[in-house]
Amino acid sequence: MWKGILEHYRDYLPLSERTPIISLQEGNTPLVRAETLSRELNIDLYFKVEGANPTGSFKDRGMVVAIAKAVEEGSTAVICASTGNTSASAAAYAARVGLRAVVLVPEGHIAVGKLSQAVMYGAEVLAVKGNFDQALDIVRSISRDHPFTLVNSINPYRLEGQKTAAFEVCDRLGEAPDVLAIPVGNAGNISAYWKGFVEYHRAGVIRRLPQMWGFEAEGAAAIVRGEPIPNPETVATAIRIGNPASWKLAVQAQRESGGRIESVSDEEILRAYRLLAQAEGIFAEPASAASLAGVIKMREKGWLAPGTRVVAVLTGNGLKDPSTALEAVTVKPRVIPCDPEAVLRAISERGVR
Ligand code: F0G
Repeated sequence: MWKGILEHYRDYLPLSERTPIISLQEGNTPLVRAETLSRELNIDLYFKVEGANPTGSFKDRGMVVAIAKAVEEGSTAVICASTGNTSASAAAYAARVGLRAVVLVPEGHIAVGKLSQAVMYGAEVLAVKGNFDQALDIVRSISRDHPFTLVNSINPYRLEGQKTAAFEVCDRLGEAPDVLAIPVGNAGNISAYWKGFVEYHRAGVIRRLPQMWGFEAEGAAAIVRGEPIPNPETVATAIRIGNPASWKLAVQAQRESGGRIESVSDEEILRAYRLLAQAEGIFAEPASAASLAGVIKMREKGWLAPGTRVVAVLTGNGLKDPSTALEAVTVKPRVIPCDPEAVLRAISERGVR
């Protein structure tokens, strides 16, 4: 039986005898081959489906380590700023071990599913009239001066946990892929994956390293533009971040791996979002689709050779953001009378034979 990442990757994690082994059975997520898109793009494409984690995003991998270490260190309260997924995950793991959780989210710019998670798990949710970057500044200073453990990805235990996704990709494929494509927001996850690949390479588990390809949303592409963006905007609210905390680590991952950090427009994100669902049967949230949007864009530009093995990380579950889904599709539910004739009439436009 799968016991979660603390147990499974114990040898690679900074655990001591005093670290409580907690788990919601995070990790061990599917690596699904994209059958249709591999054919259409003429590459060997896989999706790492992180929406299958207990709270529906990759954050659970980092949060389980951060919360276990907080308990070990005697903390009684955690705090974070979040575009939504971190707050859901922090709230869940804090509830699991009985810690107080305070989460700051940008008012009006968080998907409804994520907000409902944080409140349901019993966190103290503060919707601030500002953006993620401003909220992060606030929780950083509060955690410096008060007994709150910061569980954003600047907490090094977060990246330690998140690197296990890279391990799983290699364990499943038997080797690293040629390219790892990933959305970039606060830039923690791309840094964590790179750390994971490098550690597996050093340990001799894999013989080569992948190129790290990170994709920011165009309206929040601080790293691509080379300067912070004071008012970031994108439909992908999870990565609506203008001054990524792990900026330097992300650029290091890109340079050392010979990869790229590029941007994708909201239009490209939404196209990939629908394509994922309708061509592959995978419903991921808009920010997650940035990885596929990037792969398609790079393929169109000729920067991706035919046959290349690519793993695109799908960071969060599509159900977190039902409003964007309903806005993104043209086929809406139709209201009809409850009788067989009406149903036949409705479906006959596209044929019933
Ligand atoms: N995808 C999703 C679904 C996310 O929630 C995030 C980040 C990212 C991608 C980007 O990852 O920040 O490590 O580069 N969400 C954070 C949050 C910021 O508060 O939930 P990153």
